[in-house]
Amino acid sequence: MSFNGSKDLVEEGDVVILYIAPSNMHSLEVTPKTLNKKGILVENVFQTVYGALKVASLVGAKYGAKVDLSRGWAYVLQPTSDLWTLTLPHRTQIIYTPDISNIVYLMELEPGDTVIETGTGSGSLSHALINAIKPHGHLYTFDFHEQRVSVADIEFKKHGLERYVTVEQRDVCQTGFGDALEGKANAIFLDLPHPWLTIEHATRCFRKSGGRLCSFSPCIEQVQRTCEKLMSAGFIEIKTIECLQRELTVQYKTVPVLKLECLKSKHTDDNRNENNGKEVGGLERLVTVSHAHSLPGHTGYITIATLPPIGRRSC
Ligand SMILES: C[S@@+](CC[C@H](N)C(=O)[O-])C[C@H]1O[C@@H](n2cnc3c(N)ncnc32)[C@H](O)[C@@H]1O
Repeated sequence: MSFNGSKDLVEEGDVVILYIAPSNMHSLEVTPKTLNKKGILVENVFQTVYGALKVASLVGAKYGAKVDLSRGWAYVLQPTSDLWTLTLPHRTQIIYTPDISNIVYLMELEPGDTVIETGTGSGSLSHALINAIKPHGHLYTFDFHEQRVSVADIEFKKHGLERYVTVEQRDVCQTGFGDALEGKANAIFLDLPHPWLTIEHATRCFRKSGGRLCSFSPCIEQVQRTCEKLMSAGFIEIKTIECLQRELTVQYKTVPVLKLECLKSKHTDDNRNENNGKEVGGLERLVTVSHAHSLPGHTGYITIATLPPIGRRSC
């Protein structure tokens, strides 16, 4: 229930975020017992860099409060789709929040929308899509990998999101999205190795009023094939953007500077043979801007396209 609305106190069964530092967060299910590696039920004790936490001790804690670890402390937070993206168990490559925010914006998602997504993968994007369209919208998410579908289904239920999402195992390139979704979707999102193979199936799922299709691909060759297919299927306003973050560091640095006034006086003084030139340069503390040493670099390309309303389609 904890993903779906806020509450004051941690209850048994909640999924919570244990926040130690911006780059050290964990998602935990608040259960007194857990299965160990040998499959035996044991006390649920979570180990962190600041020592152990008896997970059951979180029950009754106020969300946002400090909780004791055996050698320090952490904060217990309510989960959000963004925090889940940072802490979820990876079963595949996932889409991260900077790209997710672009995707949600470009698809123009609103509460009440019906959205189709494939593949579900680790459910990172799915949580953000649900967040954008609830409480009246619905996400239909597909993956052909049996275990990923069943784990995603369990997670959605644990997070109290089952009424907003339907997960189905299906090879969408081979069999499309099913007759029941024809004419139903406002928006469709593709994160697959062969997105172009789903475009014809996807086109049939849009409402009469049309909608937005968005595809995420790491390679430009995938983008080219997808855009070709989008053009021939009657999509318009086809645009691709590269997801590339360039972080800048603003800091004080002591740098050598050229003192032009000294230079001017040097020339004058040279004529009089009084200046040996040492005053021309100097060191100064200035605010500088440079690119960060580690760049996250390219994550992928987002292609966004519009399917016009039925009467205005060329195909
Ligand atoms: C990169 S992952 C998606 C990650 C997801 N967007 C996330 O943020 O967690 C791609 C997924 O597509 C699934 N997939 C690949 N081809 C597929 C197909 N033809 N039909 C359905 N799912 C497919 C894979 O099993 C995989 O789980």
